[in-house]
Amino acid sequence: MTDPSDIKKGLAGVVADHTAVSKVNPDTNSLLYRGYPVQELAATQPFEAVAYLLWHGELPDTDQLRALRATERRFRRLQPEVRAVMDLLPSTTHPMDELRTAVSAIGARETAGTTNVLDAVGDADTNLGRSVRLFAELPAIVAYGQRRRRGLEPVEPRDDLNYAANFLWMTFGEEPALPVVDAFNRSMILYAEHSFNASTFTARVVTSTLSDMYSAVVAAIGALKGPLHGGANEAVKHILDEIGSAENVGPWLDRALADKRKIMGFGHRVYKRGDSRVPTMKASLDALVDFYDRPDVAELYAALEAEFVERKGIYPNLDYPSGPAYDLIGFDTLTFTPIFVASRVTGWTAHILEQQASNSLIRPLSAYNGPDERHIAGYVPDATEREAATRPEESAA
Ligand code: COA
Repeated sequence: MTDPSDIKKGLAGVVADHTAVSKVNPDTNSLLYRGYPVQELAATQPFEAVAYLLWHGELPDTDQLRALRATERRFRRLQPEVRAVMDLLPSTTHPMDELRTAVSAIGARETAGTTNVLDAVGDADTNLGRSVRLFAELPAIVAYGQRRRRGLEPVEPRDDLNYAANFLWMTFGEEPALPVVDAFNRSMILYAEHSFNASTFTARVVTSTLSDMYSAVVAAIGALKGPLHGGANEAVKHILDEIGSAENVGPWLDRALADKRKIMGFGHRVYKRGDSRVPTMKASLDALVDFYDRPDVAELYAALEAEFVERKGIYPNLDYPSGPAYDLIGFDTLTFTPIFVASRVTGWTAHILEQQASNSLIRPLSAYNGPDERHIAGYVPDATEREAATRPEESAA
C-alpha cells in the first residue's frame, strides 16, 4: 500500500534529473541560462545568440553568430509544402493546432524514407541541425498563421533583418521600429527556457522513449497550449479586456474571486515570491506603452497587479506583462502562445539534445485506487493464472 504522503501530485517538488541548460532558483528569484542571468542576456544579446547558448553551452563568438544567422536566414522562408498543409486547415483553426500540425508535417517530411524508428531519431549533429532549422522555420509559420486569419498572403522574409525584426516584418509587412524590435527580442529571450516546466518535461518524456525530435516538439506544443502553462498569455488579454479599465478592477476581482476563478498571469509552481522574468518584461511593456502612447494599458496593468497581490499575495508571472506587450505590438491574441512556441523551441530542443545524450526512460509509478480485484462471471482461470494469483502483490508499476 502506498503511503499517501509519498504521492507527489503534479510531481510537485520532485527532482526528476540533472540539467545544465538552466537553473531556476525561487529563493533568490533568479533564472540562469547556462549560468548567465536571463536579465543580462535580455539586455545585451540578440535572440539568436541566446539560442546558440542554450544549444552549445557558451555564447557564440562573432564567426559562430554569423554562421548561425546565415543558416537561420537560409531556412526562414515559409516552405510551400508547409503552407499547403496550413491552407488545408479551416482559417478558424486555433493557431496552436495549426502550428502543431505544421511541425508534424515538417517532421514527417524530414524523417521520410527512414526504414526504422531509430533511423528517424538521428545522431547529435543531425538533431542540432534540426534544432536550428525548427528555430528558423517557426516564425514564418506563426506570421503566416496570423496573416491567413486576416485573409492575407505571406510576406517574403528580408535577409537584411535579424531574427526578431524579420519575425515582425513577416507578420505585419512593415519595417518595425527599434523600440518594438527591442521589446520583442527581449520577450523571446525571456520565454526561451525554464528548466523542467510542463512542455519541456513532455518533450523529455517523448525523447526518453527514443522517439524523434519532431514528435517531442509536437507533444510539447500540445502541453504549452493549456492555459495553466503557455496559454496563459492569451488568457491574460481576455481578462484585461473583460475588466476594461483600471476603475473596474475592484468589483471585477470581487466577482472573480467569489466565483473561485484563477486569475491568469498570476502564480507559479516554482516561484512563490515573484517571477524573475517579470521586471525585465515589465520594463519592455513600459517602453511599448510610451512608444504607442497607451497609458491606459499601464494603468489597468498596475491596478490589477496591486489589488490581486494585496488580496492574495500571489505575484504576476511572465505572461502578465507579455500578453499586453504583444497586444500593443499588434499581434492577435490567438498568436501570443505560438510566439511563445517560437521562443521555447530553443529550450525544448536543448533539453531534447541533453536527454538524448544521457537517456533513461521516464516512467513513474502510480498508486492504484480503483476497484479491488474482481472477475468475469463464469471465467475459469487456467493453471498459470491460478499460480500467478497466489504470488505476493507487486508494486503498482
Ligand atoms: N488566481 C487565483 N488563485 C490562484 C492563482 C491564480 N492565478 N494561482 C494560485 N492560486 C491559488 C489557488 O487557487 C490555490 O488556492 P487554495 O490553496 O485556496 O486552493 C493556491 O493559490 C495554490 O495554487 P495551485 O494552483 O495549487 O498552485 P500550483 O503551484 O499548482 O499552480 C499555477 C501554479 C501556475 C498553475 C497557478 O498559479 C495558476 O493556475 N495560475 C494561473 C495560470 C497562469 O498564469 N499560468 C502561467 C504559469 S507561468
